[in-house]
Amino acid sequence: MEIRLFSGSANPDLAAAVARKLKISLARRLLQRFPDGEVNLRLEESVRGCDVYLLQSTCPPVDEHVMELLVMVDACRRAGAGRITAIVPYYGYSRQEKKSVGREPITARLVADLLSVAGSDRVVSLDLHAPAIQGFFTIGMDHLTAVPILIRHILARRREGMVVVSPDTGRVKLAERYAKGLGLPMAVLHKERLGGGETEVHAVIGDVRDRRPLVVDDMITTGGTIEGAVKALLSAGARPEIVVAATHGLLVDGATARLSDPSIVEVVLTDTVPVTPERRLPKMHILSVDGLLAETIRRLNENRSISELFPARYDHHPV
Ligand code: R5P
Repeated sequence: MEIRLFSGSANPDLAAAVARKLKISLARRLLQRFPDGEVNLRLEESVRGCDVYLLQSTCPPVDEHVMELLVMVDACRRAGAGRITAIVPYYGYSRQEKKSVGREPITARLVADLLSVAGSDRVVSLDLHAPAIQGFFTIGMDHLTAVPILIRHILARRREGMVVVSPDTGRVKLAERYAKGLGLPMAVLHKERLGGGETEVHAVIGDVRDRRPLVVDDMITTGGTIEGAVKALLSAGARPEIVVAATHGLLVDGATARLSDPSIVEVVLTDTVPVTPERRLPKMHILSVDGLLAETIRRLNENRSISELFPARYDHHPV
């Protein structure tokens, strides 16, 4: 089937880079807003019988990007697309995958349902906050990981005296994958979220004294987790040469200011969420997932394995 790759408004640069890797042009569409804010979309080329890919992270403004994606899926379905795959590099609402207290929604499931009801045949995402979200989809779901890309970047740097740090107990498996891939020891922080961007670390489990911490996470939102981790690591005697690595850099609500702490010497992120110039710091390295997504699209189009994309030693599944 002929490929058509459309970009939503969330990741235009990433979508253009993926199209370049695939040696195709981005499919043309008119995507704007009516004066009252409703999405106004028109596909400007035929998708009938095509293998359609819609690239859109549901990053802030989250609800606008979710709705835009749903509208794009709907338009493709009604225009007779052969197969519709939503490529959602960052899956918003992934932290609402269970009820933490009574009378809460499970919004990660709701978004999965919306995507399938709209007409998606398949969804592709990277480093979901909770891998079990894969099970919320009754349609096909491919869960990719950018961790090997981040590991490769760190492997090319000086690693002596480093220790991989999980900033909370929820990221222990993720930290294990980095520790294995980098051949480094690891430590775990016992974090409590006090609310909003504020966190407190109660204990540092593992040896960080005189070591250079590599703090790993799936996402950096307000930077509160990293701020708490830095404070706890320095009090436990770690060297003020901290490297932070995460797949999704949402960087909202003062995150960039928190990351500018001089004890953090490098922040490594990917472009699943665009990091706009005003949120960038000179010590940030933004690695692209364009090659990974292009190869995924190529393989889906040719009905070839996706698991083979991931070297076994890093473990495909981020759990
Ligand atoms: C929490 O479990 C996540 O893995 C991240 O640590 C968290 O979402 C980051 O948010 P913030 O940067 O606001 O602390």
